[in-house]
Amino acid sequence: MKFVVLTLFKEMFDAFVSTSIIKRAIDKDIVSIDVLDIRDFTKDKHKRVDFPPYGGGSGMIMSAQPLGDAIDYAVLSLEKYKKEIKIIYMSPRGKVLNYNISKNISKSNYNYIIICGHYEGIDERIIEEYNVEEISIGDYVLTGGELACQVLMDSVIRLIPGVISQESLSEESHTNGLLEYPQYTKPYEFKGRKVPDILLSGHHKMIADYRKKESIRITQKHRPDLINNKIIPKKEGK
Ligand SMILES: C[S@@+](CC[C@H](N)C(=O)[O-])C[C@H]1O[C@@H](n2cnc3c(N)ncnc32)[C@H](O)[C@@H]1O
Repeated sequence: MKFVVLTLFKEMFDAFVSTSIIKRAIDKDIVSIDVLDIRDFTKDKHKRVDFPPYGGGSGMIMSAQPLGDAIDYAVLSLEKYKKEIKIIYMSPRGKVLNYNISKNISKSNYNYIIICGHYEGIDERIIEEYNVEEISIGDYVLTGGELACQVLMDSVIRLIPGVISQESLSEESHTNGLLEYPQYTKPYEFKGRKVPDILLSGHHKMIADYRKKESIRITQKHRPDLINNKIIPKKEGK
């Protein structure tokens, strides 16, 4: 899967592409992430990319010209891969990201162009002209789309087969509509708190049952809305 990111702050992606699981996914050629600077596409003689909004109001709007040209360039660079291309704009107005959205993208046969906004956002005509999908990472407003874009790509890339073992994904929070059970490692005792005995029993079935119960308990405590939307009967966790 190929991602082309359009941003005014390329440097914010340096650590993202060169660290941990994302780096491994790139090294294994499972994904590629190209980051383009929108400013490189401006035709403004002062290299400006933002202007005040028509109709008045505070802040600046990213102009359609450099962004449109950056999208056209990104589309051209992806066309040779003969896959459909989807364009996403990270936006607080968008559909709120969740596990299912990430999973669907990870299974899709598309390559992606992701627009990171800044200032007060982007000219609306970009969204109309390029059939752009808007995705939010939560009901709050960030300064720019760069962190949101990284959240989206990270949540997608780790679900692409071959990036992380299926075993480690299968019991993670949200995979089955539940949150993960508590986890422990060495030392056995920390500040007087011991690891639950059952985890040392070596009895796989009992450990699996205990973890399932704990998963339901934690989900009911932290996110009862997930339980209510799901197939798990409430009484199981009691
Ligand atoms: C300051 S925000 C603009 C907010 C815009 N004026 C509004 O009220 O919807 C600047 C940029 O940050 C990004 N952004 C802010 N909050 C976001 C969120 N919750 N999810 C995804 N992207 C977000 C978008 O790319 C946006 O263009």
